[in-house]
Amino acid sequence: MPKDLEKVVSLCKRRGFIFPGSEIYGGLANSWDYGPLGHLLKQNIKKAWWKFFVQERSDMVALDSAIIMNPKVWEASGHLQNFSDELVECKKCHHRFRTDHILEAASLKPEYDKGQPKTAAEVKCPECDGELTDPKSFNLMFKTFLGTNEDSATTAYLRPETAAGMFVNFKNVLNATRRRLPFGIAQIGKCFRNEITPGNFIFRTREFEIGEFEYFINPKDWEKIFEMWLGEIKRWWQDVMQIDMENLVWHEIEDGERAHYSKRTVDIEYKYPFGVKELHGIAYRTDFDLSRHEKVSGEDLKYTDPETNEKFLPHVIEPTFGIDRMLLVSLLEAYTEEEAPTSKDGETEARIVMKFPKHLAPIQVAVLPLSKKEELSSVSRDLANDLRKNFSVDYDETQSIGKRYRRQDEVGTPYCVTIDFDSLVDKKVTVRDRDTMAQERIDISDLKNYLIAKFN
Ligand code: GAP
Repeated sequence: MPKDLEKVVSLCKRRGFIFPGSEIYGGLANSWDYGPLGHLLKQNIKKAWWKFFVQERSDMVALDSAIIMNPKVWEASGHLQNFSDELVECKKCHHRFRTDHILEAASLKPEYDKGQPKTAAEVKCPECDGELTDPKSFNLMFKTFLGTNEDSATTAYLRPETAAGMFVNFKNVLNATRRRLPFGIAQIGKCFRNEITPGNFIFRTREFEIGEFEYFINPKDWEKIFEMWLGEIKRWWQDVMQIDMENLVWHEIEDGERAHYSKRTVDIEYKYPFGVKELHGIAYRTDFDLSRHEKVSGEDLKYTDPETNEKFLPHVIEPTFGIDRMLLVSLLEAYTEEEAPTSKDGETEARIVMKFPKHLAPIQVAVLPLSKKEELSSVSRDLANDLRKNFSVDYDETQSIGKRYRRQDEVGTPYCVTIDFDSLVDKKVTVRDRDTMAQERIDISDLKNYLIAKFN
């Protein structure tokens, strides 16, 4: 992993993973656009997440709910009243800061060595050393208006999480699918939060994606089911995302620090170059959400156990994952600088290689003819087109083969297929492995199955 986040930010822009948002207009602070490769990487992460947590299980169903919901949803969920951060403002330069962020940053300064600041009143503005105001609450939900009138009757909000859609549809899903507890409703979607201090590249932004599920249970089973999900989350990071597990911190949130309705919360944190911070989480939310929605909507949201006839509000365990943070982690884990041999005996050169797990790589196979001559390039293009039916393929015939290998390494392409003049005769191509750089000669007729086996 790079010590310096900037190296990854720069590679992302250079190679088309992530661009600064609205750049030709001078940008928009902390907004980012996923480029051709970033989009593919994100799709692959979402597909893998869906396969692991939803498709391969018999106890999960899907949902894709609206981003703009009836505002009563946010009254019931508590977001209108409580979804806020505390901010302080500098009386001199009028910059605004999140109180917890400013305290955290100040506590790292040598002058606070002997007693860390507890309140913002003890701290000065980091921009101009001015005095800060008392903290005040700031609601993070983005407001909008439905239709042509902009008044309180038409006020609506962009969802700050996807969970609410799953709670308000609980009865619909239950009736439509005739599920029995325990079962989960999962969705992936865009969320919006008017963060006071976004930053650290795509770590904290105002528009991001969440993949999460509400797993409805009988409360008597909660401890066992919480452990089951913790185990699955470990498997996800180890087997699917294939990260260095030493970089994860399993932070059991103590009594008194959890949301009042949560009986257990574990934050899964990551050792980012900018510090140990939250990656995603899992919480036992009891029956808080369904009971609030039952009360505010007046609808009966209870479940009747078909065996015991017991009628109760299901409880919920909620694993939640920031898609963009998972993508950031996959970039950080993949980024490798190493020495690689050149074509000259005994000589090496530095290479940057993105060692993504092969199934996540945005480009799976690169087809590289050794010459641009028509007889070679026409065969190579046909081969690339054929491989496109099964793989994400890049075709590149410009510059030396060494430079082309480096370019593919830098975007993490697991296999490069080179076609030379011998290929026209022996009907074989050379396949180069990204990580070992080993090369193998393979019959063109076997190539597709060879690559399929490699990706499985
Ligand atoms: N339904 C629970 C929920 O929304 P959360 O911890 O507030 O929980 C879920 O958000 C996840 O979304 C976080 O663990 C994090 O991965 C991601 N996330 C939250 N705020 C974010 C932001 N401003 N930018 C990017 N990702 C964010």
